[in-house]
This record gives sequence, structure tokens and C-alpha cells, in this order.
Amino acid sequence: MPSAASHPAYPAGLRLAGRKVVVLGGGQVAQRRLPALLTAGADVLLVSPTVTASVEAMATAGEIRWERRRYRAGDLEGAWYAIVATDDAEANTAASAEAEERRVWCVRSDDADAASAWTPATGHSAGVTVAVLTTEPAERDPRRTAAVRDSLVHALDEGRVAVPRQGNGETPRVALVGGGPGDPDLITVRGRRLLAEADVVVADRLGPRDLLAELPPHVEVIDAAKIPYGRAMAQEAINEALIAHAKAGKSVVRLKGGDPFVFGRGMEEAQALAEAGIPCTVVPGISSAVSVPAAVGIPVTHRGVAHEFTVVSGHVAPDDPRSLVDWQALARLRGTLVILMGVDKLGAIAEALVRHGRDPETPVALVQEGTTAAQRRVDARLATAAETARAHDVRPPAVIVVGAVAALDA
Ligand SMILES: C[S@@+](CC[C@H](N)C(=O)[O-])C[C@H]1O[C@@H](n2cnc3c(N)ncnc32)[C@H](O)[C@@H]1O
Repeated sequence: MPSAASHPAYPAGLRLAGRKVVVLGGGQVAQRRLPALLTAGADVLLVSPTVTASVEAMATAGEIRWERRRYRAGDLEGAWYAIVATDDAEANTAASAEAEERRVWCVRSDDADAASAWTPATGHSAGVTVAVLTTEPAERDPRRTAAVRDSLVHALDEGRVAVPRQGNGETPRVALVGGGPGDPDLITVRGRRLLAEADVVVADRLGPRDLLAELPPHVEVIDAAKIPYGRAMAQEAINEALIAHAKAGKSVVRLKGGDPFVFGRGMEEAQALAEAGIPCTVVPGISSAVSVPAAVGIPVTHRGVAHEFTVVSGHVAPDDPRSLVDWQALARLRGTLVILMGVDKLGAIAEALVRHGRDPETPVALVQEGTTAAQRRVDARLATAAETARAHDVRPPAVIVVGAVAALDA
């Protein structure tokens, strides 16, 4: 056989679903490789006297079979692929020889030159798997392949490397993307990628507005707040705009603040699109309900202090017959109350909570424009929260946190 050392590896995508893969050794190498093997659907047999806690959890969950012993000849019978990564050099050499004998492709963590296969640095984005191999085995300098992989995945995430759409590109589609609370770094990777692929973006006032400036000039950005019609009709007009652009064959992103399904009217848009026969993808976002308190160091739960948190809309006053919120019940809860859209009605809300039994001295934090450059926090007590908010000119958008967590310090 010619020396393998002078030849580069031949790349191939192994389709391992239902096929036996043997992993020898249950340490860090196994822990790192197992998730991808499981994603590929491999039938994994792990042989090792000891394993890490994560590997043990996979065995307990029935995701892999674990034989609690050392390697012995014959272990590779019926295998298509093997990963040899024990801490016993002799066992590694013997297993590697068995793999060669049985024609089983075999990766070796201790001696890449002696192995018949190398593990590429892999990553996934935009429905693409990136696998990077160099002429040297990655095992020898994993940082090199990992760096190339990271650059490629990052470029795909941000849409800097184009992935042509499937089909003829004319299938209408809309993505309802949760943009997070405002900081452009707090959108999900998927959301950011869809934004980079969009032809039309319908954006809210809240959310990561800075990202819009990065869009290429051909992308049409529609400000949802400025869509004509009266206020009551605004949602209908937004729905119509989404449908019209999707039907024109455009890739449409509806960029919303926070999470689309947390006081975001996302479901109304999803329903309107479904009625029009347009497929819609929902991309969850980081809701301001949790992230804005976190941005100023307030945990919505804390062991021994608050074991529940309730998120409530404060846009309708408690005594308004249209209110769907049971403020009396909320006043009896001992955990954290997170109020969105509550600045205007804060006086009535605080009064109702106190009247129904919440301690007037309960700490309150008002966090305006959280995670943006204009973020500010004002602290108060429940009984005087509205007064304090007025004195400090707190304006929407703000998240109001009521509860002992608002007085915690790191
Ligand atoms: C219509 S709701 C939308 C909530 C959004 N879907 C979410 O999950 O965060 C708007 C309210 O969210 C809160 N909000 C959103 N972004 C915020 C931010 N960056 N800072 C403070 N409050 C914010 C405010 O209470 C605002 O009035």
C-alpha cells in the first residue's frame, strides 16, 4: 500500500442512519463526537470502563448502548465506522489494527497518522454542513480547521455567503422573526440569517433597528408604524403588505421586537398568512420580559426569593371593563410580576395591587429602552411607583419589575 502520509484525505459524507458505529473510550473525545453521530442517526455502541457524566446521561437516556468494560478483539464486528479514543495506547493500536482488518473506517485520537479516517471540523448554517479538512490531520492542529470552519459558518449565518434558495425562488414565504429587545447582538443566528436573505423587511419600532442599516440597498424596508390606515386598521394593513410582497415572489421578513408571540400579535399575522395559503416560519426571539430585567442585573427568579414570575400586559387599566387581567389574583402571588406596556397605567396598576394585598413597600424597577444605548433604570416602591416614574420622566418602552428580585445586588 502506498504511504498515506503524502496524500490528502478524500472527503465524503457518511450516511450513518441505522448503521453501527463503535466508539472506544468514554472521555472528552467521545463526548464531543457523540452528538453529531446521534444527529446522523448512527446506532452507537460505546465501550469503556468509565465515561464522563454527559456520556453517561446519553446512555441512561437510551441514545447509545454502553458496555462498561475495556476493548476486546471482535468489538468492531459489524461496524461501519469506529472512533478509537481510549487512554490505553495498546488497546488503541489493537483496535486500529482490527479496523484495518475488517475494512472499518477508523478515527484515532492518539495517532492521526495511523488512522484510516480524519474528523473534519464541522458546523451547520442555512441548511448547509461545512466540513473542513486540511492536508494535515485536523487532530494535529485542531485550531486551524476550527478557525476556517468558524469563518465559513459565521459568513453563512450573516448571509455573506449566499446559499441559493431551493426551487425556483418564486415560492412565497414569510418569516416572523423575533428580533430581541433592541441590541443587535441579541437576535438569534437564524433570525439574522433570514434578515440577510430578505428582499422585503417589515419592521417594528421596537427591536434591533440598527440591523436595518446593514441591509443592502435593494432590500425594501417598510416601517410597520408608518403603514397607512388608522390605528385600528394597522394590523390588517401589515398583514396585507406581508401577503402582497410574498405573492410577488419576494422573501419577506416581518421583524418584530422581542419574541413574536409575546404581546407581539405574531399569531394574527401567522393566521392571516395561513388563510392566504402562504407558508410562514416563526423564529423565536429573546423577549424583553426576561432580557430587559437581566440587562440591568435583575433575575426574574432567584433561589429562596422568587420561584415564579408572571408576565402581564399593563396597557388596559385594572378598572377598565375590557381588562382581561385578574389583578386581584396577581396581588396574591409572591413571585415576580413583570409588566409590559404598563408605564401609562402604572398608577392604577400599583393602586390595584396594593388594594388587593401586595405590600406597598415591594421593590419596583422600571427599565426603559433596555439593551439599547439609551437604557436606564429607575428604582421605586410599589405604593409610590407612578410618582417616581413621573418624577424621572420614565417613558415607554419600559419593563416594570415588581418584587423582591428588583432589590437584589450581585
Ligand atoms: C407590544 S409589546 C412587545 C413585546 C415583545 N414582543 C417582547 O417579547 O419583548 C411592547 C412592550 O415591550 C416592552 N419592551 C420591548 N422592548 C423593550 C426594551 N428594549 N426596553 C424596555 N421595554 C421593552 C415594553 O413594555 C413595550 O411597551
